[in-house]
Amino acid sequence: MSIDLAVVPVAGRGTRLLPLTKSQPKEMLPVGRRPVVQHVVEEMVRSGVRRILFITGAAKSAIENHFDIDAELIAHLRETGKEDLLAELAFERENVDYFFTRQRRQLGLGHAVLCAAPMVGDAPFVVALGDSIIGMGDASDVTRRMIDEFDRRSADAVIAFQEVPAEEVVHYGIAESDGKPGDVFRLKRIVEKPSVKEAPSRLAVAARYVFSPKIFAMLRQTQAGKANEIQLTDAIQHLIASGGGVYGVRLAPGELRYDIGNYESYFRAFLEFALADPQYGGEVRAALKRILD
Ligand code: UTP
Repeated sequence: MSIDLAVVPVAGRGTRLLPLTKSQPKEMLPVGRRPVVQHVVEEMVRSGVRRILFITGAAKSAIENHFDIDAELIAHLRETGKEDLLAELAFERENVDYFFTRQRRQLGLGHAVLCAAPMVGDAPFVVALGDSIIGMGDASDVTRRMIDEFDRRSADAVIAFQEVPAEEVVHYGIAESDGKPGDVFRLKRIVEKPSVKEAPSRLAVAARYVFSPKIFAMLRQTQAGKANEIQLTDAIQHLIASGGGVYGVRLAPGELRYDIGNYESYFRAFLEFALADPQYGGEVRAALKRILD
């Protein structure tokens, strides 16, 4: 079955990036020449997605505006002889329909995904976190690979994983695989933010998921945990425990995950994208070299 719907949660408060996120969504922060969420949407479109449902919240209207067609701006560019800049707005005309619903209480990522249930109905769907980019430019087809595995294995869920340094397991959902994990592996267990000692592996959830609608029943059974949040990882663990087929797909070596949720990895992502800019990358490199020397 081809999957054409992606749910993109963007309702989180982004408190780790205060004061940047006081009145603007972290998903609109620039990485290279695009806001984070535009990178995410372009990746989805490349994977065959044609409908995107944003789970939004208060102070997130900039996201809705960004994907709207701005006829006034287009007319202004034409009238002022800046037609060459129209190419920068080409993403407005992607062959995709946008839908928006509000997560009216910030009860965590699991709850944000549950907000999609009335729209998703009885079909499988992708979840792509709006604050994480996978691969630079068009360097990743992980969502396409995940959809293929979902179909091939008649799975209930397929999740992207990346190997992280041991000290970083405390930030992510961590996989325990059934046997030695290859590029694709079956999950035996998933643990949310384990200690370094308790972590069953260094394979960390990497911001992309494909789910059958069974995940909604699991989310409804999931009690709020830490910080009164419903954890998506806990619902995935319920799915595994109830006999569901849950698989992991590893990111390829060049397919880095850029997490924009904290300053350390946001700064790293911004620098990498600026250095790779076809027009200004060379100058950025020279400026950095001067600073470092
Ligand atoms: P995070 O786990 O980074 O949470 O969200 P957060 O609340 O945005 O950030 P902090 O912890 O306060 O700094 C991962 C993704 O899930 C969305 C976020 O918008 C982000 O894209 N999310 C998170 C929701 O949509 N709703 C939530 O209740 C929590």
